[in-house]
Amino acid sequence: MKIAVIPGDGTGPEVTDEALKVLAAVAEKNSFEFTTTHFDFGGERYLKTGEILPDGAVADLQEHDAIFLGAIGHPDVAPGILEKGLLLNLRFAMDQYINLRPVTLYPGVETPLAGKSPEDIDFVVVRENTEDMYCGIGGFLKKGTPDEVASQTAIYTRKGCERVIRWAFEYTRKRNNPKGKRLTLVAKTNVLTYGHDLVWRTFEEVGAEYPDVELDYNHVDACCMWMVKNPEFYDVIVTTNMFGDIITDLGAMIQGGMGVAAGGNINPDEGGTSMYEPMGGSAPKYTGQNVINPIAAIAAMSMLLEHSGQPEAADQVTAAIKQVTGTKMESQAAGRMGYGTTEIGDLVCEHL
Ligand code: IPM
Ligand code: MN
Repeated sequence: MKIAVIPGDGTGPEVTDEALKVLAAVAEKNSFEFTTTHFDFGGERYLKTGEILPDGAVADLQEHDAIFLGAIGHPDVAPGILEKGLLLNLRFAMDQYINLRPVTLYPGVETPLAGKSPEDIDFVVVRENTEDMYCGIGGFLKKGTPDEVASQTAIYTRKGCERVIRWAFEYTRKRNNPKGKRLTLVAKTNVLTYGHDLVWRTFEEVGAEYPDVELDYNHVDACCMWMVKNPEFYDVIVTTNMFGDIITDLGAMIQGGMGVAAGGNINPDEGGTSMYEPMGGSAPKYTGQNVINPIAAIAAMSMLLEHSGQPEAADQVTAAIKQVTGTKMESQAAGRMGYGTTEIGDLVCEHL
């Protein structure tokens, strides 16, 4: 397995090291080989060279079976530059049209939802990752004047809707929830009467091919209520890019915070290259102190394994994570784990 590694900024390199440590342990245990190529993309390189993604970078990354990304974001770089130039750019350039974000409460992890346990918080959000308001379509008119007009256009294509919805149905089928297979479309059909009408019609049409999956629909505002009140209701959610961005931060919080939440930017097509990342940012104030939580990065590595032909290794890593959160860690918050960053990585390896 050839893995491209972008450790990135802030605490990105620290959590990446732990994920790679776990990868080495699980590869040995399962007798598979891997190589890593490091890429120094991120804020530091940008500040030094003015370059975010050098020519040929995407092609170089695509030589690999998968990409692991630590964190992007630098206090000396204006917000939006690296996000757009690196993260969104890579998602678009590699057409990673699935953003997969599991919301799993691991044992021993505190959730802000009173009375909810790991059995109640265990669902997956499939976020569309290439369309909607993320396309960068729009502009200004009379900028800086009292008559200024700004527009930001949301785009939905039939193809874009269909591919993510179909993937979500397949995923729901494969997940095979013993409580019943249910796919919930989250949108806003009562207001976005064109774009989300297309999304809805596509959902119904594709859904007809999956009689074993229950089709369900929530408006996004109602989904925010249910995620807090009855998270156990959800199995798989499929949603548009912007709503997916928002509800997965809510999801990250109910599963115990940014220290544990992971995601995958997946291009599932033949020859597609996918990128896995912990959801937390670069956390500049914790950098270099060995206090940041590497569980999210290790969970991202488990996702990478699951979708790169090593599902058993992925399950082993997840089981080891659950052992460590359930029996060792005091908290998932940086500096309060009861262990340092590197010790958590070691503990996961020991449980493997
Ligand atoms: C995420 C992030 C990004 C997004 C930002 C950093 C552009 O919030 O991965 O959810 O909006 O997709
Ligand atoms: Mn986000």
